Amino acid sequence: MFHKDRNYDMNKGVVDMDQEKKNQLFHQAKQWVMEAGDDIRKSLKKPFKVDTKRDRKDLVTEVDQQTEKFFAHKIKKTYPHHQVLGEEGFGDKVESLDGIVWIIDPIDGTMNFVHQQRNFAISVGIYQDGIGQIGLIYDVMADELYYGLKDEGAYKNGKQLDRLNQNRKLEEAMVGINSFWSVPNRRLDETGIHQLIRKVRGTRSYGSAALEFVYVAEGLIDAYITMRLSPWDIAAGVIIVHEAGGITTQADGSPLNMISHNSIITCNPAIHQEIITQYIKPKQ
Ligand code: IPD
Ligand code: CA
Ligand code: CA
Repeated sequence: MFHKDRNYDMNKGVVDMDQEKKNQLFHQAKQWVMEAGDDIRKSLKKPFKVDTKRDRKDLVTEVDQQTEKFFAHKIKKTYPHHQVLGEEGFGDKVESLDGIVWIIDPIDGTMNFVHQQRNFAISVGIYQDGIGQIGLIYDVMADELYYGLKDEGAYKNGKQLDRLNQNRKLEEAMVGINSFWSVPNRRLDETGIHQLIRKVRGTRSYGSAALEFVYVAEGLIDAYITMRLSPWDIAAGVIIVHEAGGITTQADGSPLNMISHNSIITCNPAIHQEIITQYIKPKQ
């Protein structure tokens, strides 16, 4: 099947996204992200409704919902044949990553948004046939836009991110980790993580997976390890980290499945294998 967004090679089938199309999609996505960020900043000037989803800690606000609706509406109007997978359910019921899929977290770090009014981000990943092409993560209050384009590098406000320390040692590493590792965990043995916490130089917890990914890409932290994230939490971050020279896998080192939940280690490659083999142990 010929598709107007894709190059076609008679022998290999569908290959990379057409460069012009990729540039056009990136500029369009960037414009929408900046516009949505502006609306979110304005929304903080007045009260907004906060609800809970699965439990009392799982927050959603009307701003999360409006932001996702904004993206879903714009995408469907401009690119009717693209699919949208969004956290708040205003996109499509996506069952496969065939074609072009926008994977969107309208606000990643909603608890920070509600409690701190900062340290949250918009995350948009654009995939073609399951392969990440464009990732954008916008730290709305800091006005910092991180992005990655397949085979073209990762950038923060236009400046390339390519400075991961290739000689990083675990004992000098800063690792993003959250407090759930201090309580018993169903799938992984937390005592391995406790040993890792003792080994590394320091740990941090920022409350936004998207921001923790870009901090890995920027080298502010050397790894981020978490137990269960959804596709919208990671779609853009995976691309940005990869383009900055980093690596993302499930916590046991296996590949990601972008339409399901994953445990995550996103990391400077210099310490990835050591963390997995020495410190991440499945529950017996
Ligand atoms: C959450 C944040 C948080 C992570 C949670 C996510 P949300 O996303 O990324 O840092 O620990 O697992 O669900 O709900 O704020 O979009
Ligand atoms: Ca999220
Ligand atoms: Ca969210």
